[in-house]
Amino acid sequence: MENKAFYITTPIYYVNDLPHIGHSYTTIACDVMARYKRLAGFDVYFLTGTDEHGQKIERMAESKGVAPKAYCDEIAGAFRRLWERLDISNDGFVRTTDDYHVRRVQKIFKRIYDNGDIYKDKYEGWYCTPCESFWPEGQLVDGNCPDCGRKVEWTEEEAYFFKLSKYADRLLKLYEDKPNFIQPASRKNEMVAFIKSGLEDLCVSRTTFKWGVPVDFDGKHVVYVWIDALSNYITKLGFPEEDDELYRRYWPADFHVVGKEIVRFHSVIWPALLMSLGIDLPGSVFGHGWWTAEGEKISKSKGNMIDPGKYIDEFGSDQIRYFVLREISFGQDGDFSRLNFLHRTNAELANDLGNLLSRATAMIGKFCEGLVPLPGSFDDMDREFEPLATEVLANYVKAMDRLDFQSAFGEVLRLVGRANKYIDEAAPWSLAKDDAGKERLGTVLYNVAETCRVAAILLSPVLTKGAPEIWRQLGLEGTPAEAGLAAAKWGGLVPGTEVRRAEPVYPRIDVKAVLERDAVEKADKEASKSKEAAAKAKESKKEPAKAPAVDEPMPLITIDDFAKIELRTAEVLEAERIEGADKLLKLTVSVGGKQRQIVAGIAKFYEPAELVGKHIVIVANLQPAKLRGNISEGMLLAASTPGHEQLAVLTVDKPLPSGSRAK
Ligand code: ME8
Ligand code: MG
Repeated sequence: MENKAFYITTPIYYVNDLPHIGHSYTTIACDVMARYKRLAGFDVYFLTGTDEHGQKIERMAESKGVAPKAYCDEIAGAFRRLWERLDISNDGFVRTTDDYHVRRVQKIFKRIYDNGDIYKDKYEGWYCTPCESFWPEGQLVDGNCPDCGRKVEWTEEEAYFFKLSKYADRLLKLYEDKPNFIQPASRKNEMVAFIKSGLEDLCVSRTTFKWGVPVDFDGKHVVYVWIDALSNYITKLGFPEEDDELYRRYWPADFHVVGKEIVRFHSVIWPALLMSLGIDLPGSVFGHGWWTAEGEKISKSKGNMIDPGKYIDEFGSDQIRYFVLREISFGQDGDFSRLNFLHRTNAELANDLGNLLSRATAMIGKFCEGLVPLPGSFDDMDREFEPLATEVLANYVKAMDRLDFQSAFGEVLRLVGRANKYIDEAAPWSLAKDDAGKERLGTVLYNVAETCRVAAILLSPVLTKGAPEIWRQLGLEGTPAEAGLAAAKWGGLVPGTEVRRAEPVYPRIDVKAVLERDAVEKADKEASKSKEAAAKAKESKKEPAKAPAVDEPMPLITIDDFAKIELRTAEVLEAERIEGADKLLKLTVSVGGKQRQIVAGIAKFYEPAELVGKHIVIVANLQPAKLRGNISEGMLLAASTPGHEQLAVLTVDKPLPSGSRAK
């Protein structure tokens, strides 16, 4: 096979923050893409790194009383360690303080200068240090930075400028000629509008701070932000020096994956710099959306940065890798909710995927002596699998190639879901009972095991721990990544392979226990916030905070799910106790003129007479049930505290004809 090159990059992250879920998101997405391309036989280079220069970082190090480089080393180390724990398979890690980067940026700057695209002038303007941005007077908000609201400083200095304005037309033409240059398409329209509103030349050097790449032909200046940062994508490959083997092998990049806030720098400034250097342009800049955390903007000041390290400790790296790419469509914004994480992990990894494997290996163990059976006779249902798997594979490839991870994994789940349902329908345990069934039993169990094998290959880019484990339990040699995408073709599993039954790949998370643990943690945190509480805790020998009782919130349902429940108002006509059942009351209610009997466990909370005449709400389409020998034709709605200490029956706010529908 032709060994085609594929080069993908993340932004290089500022070292003013510890890595959080946002940085991890981009890095995980690129990792999954890199692994997918390797799976498909490409020669991949995957680059990430850290952006370490600038006044903000200089000041931050100063405030901590350490040298800037020592400070950068520490944070860059934290990024590296997190990437290791997340199983990130980057081929390179670039730091803008690395010697080769500094040297090559100087050469790049000089080359653009020699081309006549960099010139010296005077800069005047309002400067926001935290944002490292100059603002025209007109854009200030109440005299402050329009981005962060903080104070701006009037700055006047000699500076070098890049002739960005000169490239406006060529950039517009680029977007036209290469419609996929900026993705998703909506972001392209923003860029076109931005360029059409008029491009200004770009300030590319500063003289007011020292923590940067010195301009080698004018020592007063350091290279300012973007030429330094963006060039990482080529300096790491060796450009513009002799030793540029990687550059020749991998440039131009196929994808620069970035957050939406820096699409502009990557799709306007970066191609203009490359045009000036006279080298090839990248294939595509993909601007993904932003995460909020439990509905709020992620920010240092709010202290709501989700730490992926904590999720790895609690649940595992596969779980967090899978969740961030599956939860929202790549390109859209989304909210990180811990509860949704728990539910999705349980539903898709534990129940759907993990369970299918457990069922497959258990039944092959029980009915086939642990050996993958030979398919025997086929029913219609059995014949569905091959075409379904073929379609899933094709859709998966299409989706992955456009970085639509959500749909790609969704396709695999469709196959897995079908296989789980198929087990219920084909009922292998009945087929095993007689000789007539046994031929088909082989077919059914083969299909189920083969589904697991195909799923392991297709999910191997994201489930770096679980996919090889599925592979191992299926009794296969090597890893799904080594098998490659071509092996995902249906029918690759060899009958006679000995499966290895083992622990569940994705154990079910006990959501209630996690939420209770969270509540304890939160209570502990709040307690330790208050000095008094801390002192008291000492006196009472540090009694741990008690967990407030919580009811487990439930997964989201659709409006269609809800529509299946027929809620109606009912008037209570009679109520009485039931002998021998001290918890139950028997009610006679009127529902739209018809009488029904309802038995409810509310005797501890209501005197029968209290209820007569109340207009309550009942589930009218519940299957009748017998409670202590009394028929109950429906269920009344009541709310109670988690420990059932208190209970209240739901009533309507004003009288309505009984039998009115509630929705
Ligand atoms: O901008 N949601 O670095 P940075 C999604 N050094 N992604 C997020 C996110 C969130 N809430 N928060 C951060 C810089 N990210 C420059 C880049 S590139 C030549 C120079 C991710 O540390 C997302 O990829 O501010 C975003 O673009 C990046 O982190 C910003 O990282
Ligand atoms: Mg930023």
